[in-house]
Amino acid sequence: MKKVGVAILGLGVVGGGTYQILTQHREFYQRTQNVDIVVESVLELNRERARALGVPSDKIASNIAEIVSDPDVNIVVEVIGGVDAAREYVLAALNAGKTVVTSNKELFCKYSHELERAAKRQNAGLYFEASCVGGVPIIRTLLDGVQANEITSMIGIINGTTNYILTRMNEEGSSYEECLKEAQRLGYAEADPTADVEGYDAAYKLSILSSLAFHTKVPFSKIFREGISGVSAEDIADGRALGYMLKLLAIGKQSEAGIEVRVHPAFVRKGHPLASVNDSFNAVFLTGDSVGDVMLYGRGAGALPTGSAIVSDIIYAATHTENKYSTFKNTAGADKDTKFVSDFKSAYYMRLTVEDRPGILARITAVFGKHNISIVELMQKPACEDGKVPLVIVTHETRELSVRAAVARINALEGVAHVDTVLRVVT
Ligand code: HSE
Repeated sequence: MKKVGVAILGLGVVGGGTYQILTQHREFYQRTQNVDIVVESVLELNRERARALGVPSDKIASNIAEIVSDPDVNIVVEVIGGVDAAREYVLAALNAGKTVVTSNKELFCKYSHELERAAKRQNAGLYFEASCVGGVPIIRTLLDGVQANEITSMIGIINGTTNYILTRMNEEGSSYEECLKEAQRLGYAEADPTADVEGYDAAYKLSILSSLAFHTKVPFSKIFREGISGVSAEDIADGRALGYMLKLLAIGKQSEAGIEVRVHPAFVRKGHPLASVNDSFNAVFLTGDSVGDVMLYGRGAGALPTGSAIVSDIIYAATHTENKYSTFKNTAGADKDTKFVSDFKSAYYMRLTVEDRPGILARITAVFGKHNISIVELMQKPACEDGKVPLVIVTHETRELSVRAAVARINALEGVAHVDTVLRVVT
């Protein structure tokens, strides 16, 4: 039976889960995959952590050089996170001809062109299923499941931290700050939650997924990004009263106009399959020209779900002689022939604070009319203490730039205190 040696760089949550899966399933993979996968080495500065997982002392390496020079190591798993050291270690492994499996979305998003070049040079594999949506096999689905299709649309809830926060806000009516604290207490959100709540994590993943789905490089810089830190309990409650749930969505679309990629909070109508994806769960809803709609649902983070994705890459690499690389020209920036759409189409939800007197609504609707924006719903709420009233408006599908222009005009109208919220709506 073929024997394959693995080294794991970093025994944190994901590295520990990977170690556990590999050691507990060794005989199972011998039986079902006809391969003997052995953890030959780990790189973990906290030796106690390694020993607590049951790693024998002689398998704990002291530095990356020991691992890349070890002839028994065929596959190096990078799960240390961050960019600088991870990039150095991954390049060292690839340059030594080792196949690399990584869960590092930021590294892969920013440097996949460089890593892929090094891998191809040495005929080494480079696999990254765990970089996007944890245990949900979205990358393999794009590469090996729906590859017969032109993918026209991909809408995902691909960040569990923000989905947990928005679910709590929806179910308890609590503020963003309270729900963030709860997410931190439970270990879903980091002490510095910026990467999750401001949409960076989702945008790194969307850059990787849309490059694969649309077969052209979609750099991070092309992704429109807005986070959830400005979302209020009032908006969630008003949206719910209108039949919507608020989600942080990652949206990728491809049409003759070009590629549209965006990460932002959006109201999803209650009957939409993504509306019932709650707590820290993730899902991706794909549409292909032949297959139609496909939805994948599962855990986007955690030791064993992300470990499952890593081990699926290890098994793939261990059981295939040909390496699989990107289906697009993997350069640092976008291909010059790829068009990107920034004036995308969407429906919108807006909350305004206005004076409650005759003629104000007429002024607002006149601005909408001038910008070709049609209203679907309009709700006037009870007056605030200062006598002003909140207005909630939902529009038909219109253009992003028309809405931005209309909002600027409405903000300047006499009798309108301010436009408080603008959120996109997916119907
Ligand atoms: N922090 C991510 C999330 C998981 O909350 O979904 C890793 O990408």
